Amino acid sequence: MSFNIGPYNFGNCAVLAPMAGVTDRPFRQLCRSLGARMTVSEMISSRPDLRDNRKTRLRMDHQGEPGPIIVQIAGGIPQMMAEAAVYNVAQGAQIIDINMGCPAKKVCRVEAGSALLKDSKLVESILSSVVAAVSVPVTLKMRTGWSRNHRNALEIAAIAEACGIQALTIHGRTREDKYLGHAEYETMRRVKKNIKIPLVANGDIDSAKKAEMVMDITAADAIMVGRIAQQRPWILGQIDQFLTTGREADDPSKQQKLRWLTDHLRNLHAFYGEHQGVRIARKHINWQLGHNEKYKFIRPALMQADTATQQLQAIEAYFDDCYPGRFARAC
Ligand SMILES: Cc1cc2nc3c(=O)[nH]c(=O)nc-3n(C[C@H](O)[C@H](O)[C@H](O)COP(=O)(O)O)c2cc1C
Repeated sequence: MSFNIGPYNFGNCAVLAPMAGVTDRPFRQLCRSLGARMTVSEMISSRPDLRDNRKTRLRMDHQGEPGPIIVQIAGGIPQMMAEAAVYNVAQGAQIIDINMGCPAKKVCRVEAGSALLKDSKLVESILSSVVAAVSVPVTLKMRTGWSRNHRNALEIAAIAEACGIQALTIHGRTREDKYLGHAEYETMRRVKKNIKIPLVANGDIDSAKKAEMVMDITAADAIMVGRIAQQRPWILGQIDQFLTTGREADDPSKQQKLRWLTDHLRNLHAFYGEHQGVRIARKHINWQLGHNEKYKFIRPALMQADTATQQLQAIEAYFDDCYPGRFARAC
């Protein structure tokens, strides 16, 4: 089974979710190299006054990434969203994704992200303004509704399709749910029955088997994976292989994990510069290794490593079981 978003064709596939503070260029490149067929940028504010700061400039950097370059924009003013879409296309975006899924207070307070779902007229105005402003495909990422009492995914999906949105991603929770409870796959299935555009199902998918189950329940065209990829970026390739061939992939070897992590850290150091790169790398190290019992023995040394070289050496020592503590071997 395959589907198109404009001129881009995708098979049964796993997509990396946009995650602010996580899915920067080095992480997207890592996930693409490990099997993600699509990645989406961290959300970029539609406010023009925020365009010229370092954080936004880095978020807009797609140098060397394989296409299609998908840029997510966030905001609640139709004209400003349309201008932001035009601006990002001029910077290289090949697909514009609109964020109506973020529950963060900072975003909802300014009537953006999932807060928009309570106002279907405004949703319609934003979507039609953005679609009319750019010639590239426009997609929408949303939740199942504004609150548990206002699950309006079916209505918003119909508006999106009528406005010319070319694919829809649904995170199966309402804004009110934040990340509580379980993703509602049944709602996605009802939406899928009502639309002709491709549907990407998202929420709580943490294994290849679960991905298959969600595809079966929802009849979605693809699935999107977020938080679990922070821990196991290779899961995207594992899901892709399982959905494509029915064969489960082996877990990567220790050597592979070490190589992927050190390559990723080097890319972070290069992308952000050594000082900031080392600090950002600490988050990724915690996400990837934090659930291993022996990690606590090396965490202090790793978090104190202040240069790129020290950080890489500490990671190699960890993978070599070469550090003080219960699991250490002589080294
Ligand atoms: C740290 C973090 C940042 C996120 N940032 C964004 C964002 O910028 N745009 C967006 O549409 N969703 C964002 N999300 C939501 C994810 O894209 C995804 O919908 C959600 O995590 C559910 O998928 P999962 O259960 O696979 O994690 C974010 C989630 C997390 C955990």
